Amino acid sequence: MKSVGGFRSMYNEKQRRTDAGNSHRRRGKLVPLVLAVVLAISVVAAPLLTPDHERFTEEAAQRMTQSAGSVLAPVYAPLAEQLVADYNLDDMETGIGIDLGSGPGTLIFELCARTNLHWINADINPHFFPIFFAEAEKRGFGHRVSAIFADAQALPFRDNYADIIVSRGSYHFWDDKALGFSEIMRVLKPGGVAYIGRGMARDMPVETAQAIREQQGERMVYDREAEAASLEAMFAELGIDTYRIEIPVPPDDPSLNYGIWIELRAP
Ligand SMILES: C[S@@+](CC[C@H](N)C(=O)[O-])C[C@H]1O[C@@H](n2cnc3c(N)ncnc32)[C@H](O)[C@@H]1O
Repeated sequence: MKSVGGFRSMYNEKQRRTDAGNSHRRRGKLVPLVLAVVLAISVVAAPLLTPDHERFTEEAAQRMTQSAGSVLAPVYAPLAEQLVADYNLDDMETGIGIDLGSGPGTLIFELCARTNLHWINADINPHFFPIFFAEAEKRGFGHRVSAIFADAQALPFRDNYADIIVSRGSYHFWDDKALGFSEIMRVLKPGGVAYIGRGMARDMPVETAQAIREQQGERMVYDREAEAASLEAMFAELGIDTYRIEIPVPPDDPSLNYGIWIELRAP
């Protein structure tokens, strides 16, 4: 019995080693497979965190800076005034404001001039930042602003961080708008507000708006009602009902495109 037992135990030991070898080999194949699957899932599921070099170039930053200083220059002051009036920003002694997709930060400078908040330029194209900081210093706002590489779809801010988030001319570039708007809701403080959209302030003088649209040509022709409908469907799916969509219609030229805006409130 003993020898049988001894034989058995030798057999078992050999078998164990063979099993162990097989399982090691199986594991050897399995590990890279699992890693490949995890990597594939994370590449597919991960929001865009690294700039796509075709889109977020230094040239793109220079082009946008140029148009913010020329064709679009009249847009920012009236928009800042509207934001201050709508949300009583001039009553706030302190606070954090984020301009999402701020580019050269022209709206931020107008907001710095009218509020006491600290304003953050959160943009996916970091080539804007040297231009932004140089201009901030020149205007005396160097201590009032920050900049951070940010994808709207995966904001680099903790929950309940910002008092207000604004964004002009950016959201239609976000690949996953639902993710972007969910992120905005996450980052807003309770009671905070966001004003996100494209176009111009509702009381922009009509002649100025006409001149801008003429220079922009066909590029800015889009169906705002269809856009509103698709945003409504998106918010319904997200279960967000604390929003308002604004399509400004100037009485003197109702067909003129003043853009589309979304006001979001964090409960
Ligand atoms: C047409 S420019 C508008 C710039 C600025 N808001 C203005 O009105 O002058 C669009 C901006 O959105 C930024 N942007 C595009 N996709 C983005 C994303 N996924 N997350 C953050 N910023 C983005 C671009 O880098 C660019 O600065």
